[in-house]
Amino acid sequence: MTDTQAVLQDMREELETDSNSLRKISADFCEEMKISAAGRKSSLQMLPSFLDLPDGFETGRFLALDFGGTNVRAMLVELGNRSSAVLKQRSAPLRDPDGKYDYTAKDSSAEELFDFLARLVSSVAEGELVYYLGHTFSFPCHQTSLSQTKLIRWTKEIATPGVEGQGVGELLQAAFHRLHSRIVQTVILNDTVGTLLAASYADPSVEIGSICGTGHNTCFRDKGNNGVQPMIRNLESGNFSKVSMSVYDRQLDAASEKPGEQRLEKMVGGQYLGEIVRMMAMNAAAAGALSAGGADDLIQPYCLTTADLAFFMYPALFDRPKKGPHLSVQDEKIVAVLANLVCRRSARLAAATYVGILKYLDFNLTGVHTIGVDGSLYTKLPGYAAQLQEAVKEILPERSGTVRIVAARDGSGIGAAIAAAIATRQKYFDS
Ligand code: GLC
Repeated sequence: MTDTQAVLQDMREELETDSNSLRKISADFCEEMKISAAGRKSSLQMLPSFLDLPDGFETGRFLALDFGGTNVRAMLVELGNRSSAVLKQRSAPLRDPDGKYDYTAKDSSAEELFDFLARLVSSVAEGELVYYLGHTFSFPCHQTSLSQTKLIRWTKEIATPGVEGQGVGELLQAAFHRLHSRIVQTVILNDTVGTLLAASYADPSVEIGSICGTGHNTCFRDKGNNGVQPMIRNLESGNFSKVSMSVYDRQLDAASEKPGEQRLEKMVGGQYLGEIVRMMAMNAAAAGALSAGGADDLIQPYCLTTADLAFFMYPALFDRPKKGPHLSVQDEKIVAVLANLVCRRSARLAAATYVGILKYLDFNLTGVHTIGVDGSLYTKLPGYAAQLQEAVKEILPERSGTVRIVAARDGSGIGAAIAAAIATRQKYFDS
């Protein structure tokens, strides 16, 4: 007879992140930041955003486009007095659920993708006298000014050809041109930067912005020195490589679009958590701990989403009929145990990197620090926010009181509008 508990225990050990290993990750992360700051080869970057924190005087109506990899959202946002209101918004998936289009696929094109984005923004701008747009483009970019930026490489399994190495601003502006639209893209920013802007607009003590969603990444405010202006810098921390991978992580990486890249993101991001759980479940089935029928239902790669994991872990919280794989009650319980391990590890790894950044900014943690976080894992997955905070406490038992983690709701939308306000003001003074 199979000892299910023994199978689960082995898996628990394989995914273990004890306090010491988290401390080691924090120290390594801090070191990788220093290496990157010194201009040496590191798995982290210090990508400039050309944006500093808002001063609170950003006011007016702006358009925002949020393109992160799953859904695209266009918004009309009103800013004033350190608060914001979304006046209009529309969103659309990049992959049609009925399979009519997929702008992220290898057989789509840059033109199709950017025409789709431009149409969505124009539909929100229609009938309005607002033309200044902040564009959140949540991928690693080499930025040379507020609105000049080139996509370094796609992440999050996007494969649209003709965009890597190209100017993102030019691609979107050309699409507006094809539509005869008067919209002007004033700034392009990463979603972590938007999150930091939105969080610090509401609470000026925030100096780190992070996304725990489909993808994972963090940025921070670099105070600058020796003539270098203070500026928010994007770490592309999803690419951090000094994390030890389990056998499942290696399996997932090998089958991914870009093996070897985005190691941390493949262990933390919502894009991947369901797939890790699925691979573990298949192994559990091979060891006799999950039924053969359960294994059949989970045979399709990426058939488990983070929403499915939430359903298995907290069935009482969901009353909707579940869309994902239908498992027996016993199999659901096993998958719930695996999902708990994988989601908890995700929060703990992200927390370890936050401590790494805090150590980089203030080694002895003498000050009080605030981190603004957004993303579906943080805002929607039950327990995730608490696990993040607890892990920081565990890594820094004596100084944990000095670290605050706050929700930065809708950072990539509101943040884009704030960036547009900053950029428009900057242009006005420069001209
Ligand atoms: C991926 C992208 C990064 C983005 C993150 C969260 O890691 O490379 O730019 O911030 O996802 O969306």
